[in-house]
Amino acid sequence: MTGQTAPAQPGASISVDVPAKINPHLGVGDARADGYHALSTVYQAISLHDTVTAERRGEPGIEITISGEGAGTLPTGEANLAHKAAKLIALYAGIEPDVKLHLNKRIPVAGGLAGGSADAAGALIACARLWEVEIGDAELERLAAGLGSDVPFCLKGGTAIGSGRGEKLTPVDAKGTWHWVVATTDTQISTPECYKEVDRLREDGIGRYSSDVAPLVRAFESGASADDLARLLINDMEAAAVSLRPQLASLMHGGLEEGALAAHVSGSGPTVLFLATDVKHAVALARRIRMRGGAKSVHLAHGPVNGPAA
Ligand code: C5P
Repeated sequence: MTGQTAPAQPGASISVDVPAKINPHLGVGDARADGYHALSTVYQAISLHDTVTAERRGEPGIEITISGEGAGTLPTGEANLAHKAAKLIALYAGIEPDVKLHLNKRIPVAGGLAGGSADAAGALIACARLWEVEIGDAELERLAAGLGSDVPFCLKGGTAIGSGRGEKLTPVDAKGTWHWVVATTDTQISTPECYKEVDRLREDGIGRYSSDVAPLVRAFESGASADDLARLLINDMEAAAVSLRPQLASLMHGGLEEGALAAHVSGSGPTVLFLATDVKHAVALARRIRMRGGAKSVHLAHGPVNGPAA
């Protein structure tokens, strides 16, 4: 989905839709000296999205309101990544921030779908447009990387290889659309918690670094069938997520029994993605997974979609 480019007239508001991300390939290497883990990943933006709206407040300050997922529990002050993003753009432009940000959230919180990073990317774009800040793509990406490893991808959307700690992107020209059933659970997993569990399991000799993204990239570039894609999905964090939340195993098995081509933990979890053959299969699969119980909510999504800066 593409963000709007309305000029920042006084009183005007700017809204941008920012998609959730999934990692059809998530290879996790060893912890680096800075504490981050080397990543070799393929990101894809999917149609599940948050909407970030920015309007002038009329006085200095950054104010955040939230509706939807996480409303009432997520911080609205400086601890919110969108707040940090607004502050960063103001600092870059050398202006006093003056903005009311509204986050309408559909992306599950702490679910492995980069909801917080999506809001930060949306706030960067919306505030830059609202305040008419002249900023190039490279500079915007640099600011995004300072906010979090997934934020640069959330700006761009589409499909991309992520390296470094996930912030270095190489676009992939994916030819096709793939359909997913997204099943959330009533638990959350914090990203650092899941990385720590990966390290702990590795010390016990469980799991290894899946560094080669080439087979999956070729599949996307050649418009592979969902059947072929199903065999290439990899997540080095999956064992850690299941170890932290063992109930994920039965959710995954249940979806496979209902006919999913693959069950794949999204990022650091605990959201589970089920790959479907096509949209018709996805609709039927979502219904069967819902009826079976065990998921908090079940959504349909397709990818890739564009990000707000595309
Ligand atoms: O980059 P971001 O702030 O989203 O990362 C949150 C946390 O996840 C980091 O503080 C780190 O503990 C962990 N992380 C990691 N390796 C990465 C990305 C994140 O260990 N590549």
